[in-house]
Amino acid sequence: MTHELQVIALAGGKGDLGQYLQEALSQDPRYSLVILTRQINPSTLKSPHTDTNTNTTTIPTDYTLSSLLSILTTTQATTLISLIRCPDADYLPLHTSLLEAARLTQSCTRFIPSEWAGDIASFPDLSRAYARTRAPLRGLLANQPCPKVEYTLFNHGWCMEFSCPRQSRIDDWGTFNQMAETLERFYDQPESLELAIAEAEEWTVSGATACPKEKTLWQRETYFAGMQFTTVKQLLQQAEREERV
Ligand SMILES: NC(=O)c1ccc[n+]([C@@H]2O[C@H](COP(=O)([O-])OP(=O)(O)OC[C@H]3O[C@@H](n4cnc5c(N)ncnc54)[C@H](OP(=O)(O)O)[C@@H]3O)[C@@H](O)[C@H]2O)c1
Repeated sequence: MTHELQVIALAGGKGDLGQYLQEALSQDPRYSLVILTRQINPSTLKSPHTDTNTNTTTIPTDYTLSSLLSILTTTQATTLISLIRCPDADYLPLHTSLLEAARLTQSCTRFIPSEWAGDIASFPDLSRAYARTRAPLRGLLANQPCPKVEYTLFNHGWCMEFSCPRQSRIDDWGTFNQMAETLERFYDQPESLELAIAEAEEWTVSGATACPKEKTLWQRETYFAGMQFTTVKQLLQQAEREERV
């Protein structure tokens, strides 16, 4: 059976999560990929660059509506996925532009905004940072004028890939608060970090970062039946074997 090629645009696709998604999707012949990035360096990447081995084109953008619309239209993107992790103030304007650009095209009918974390079904207002940023976007998504873009809010789980690649591995072990203290000293921003830590603690203590057990088991059975899952212990052993920690 032949499949129509799907063109998937990954906004922020050069980031940590984006790289894994890119790697996985590029191995599937049903997809070609478009990576959106603000970077015009390295290698003075001023125009689209295509890697024919992986069917992936990297295109610089400033995330204005006109730039996004031009990219989505030219590439005939069918799905737009955001993996952007940005300052809170940038989240809504960026994602409003992404959604609007998709809505204005003929081809791009699916959108996954950059949520990726937390039990937003039970705790839509936690973390507070998410209530300030992601929650207003959820409202826009739910109340779109026609034509509508189909959207998915995706939580990839309690813990994503924390085994760092060897070249960027962190050899500093400690508690979350110790790490925050180091960052606080480095950036000299005690107030905003204190707030961020308090919000993260509230988010965790409330259970809003946990995966709801029944729903998770149902999704595992429904979407990933037969797939081998790695336990935390196995992950650590593998990371140790591969010299990633
Ligand atoms: N569930 C979990 O355990 C968990 C853990 C970590 C992260 N997450 C979530 O997963 C998503 C991806 O995280 P990540 O760690 O992969 O992110 P990341 O690597 O820190 O950033 C992803 C990309 O965002 C782009 N970006 C940053 N600031 C921007 C701005 N102002 N405007 C436009 N683009 C900007 C950058 O792309 P360019 O420089 O190429 O433009 C960057 O490569 C986020 O929503 C994050 O909150 C979830």
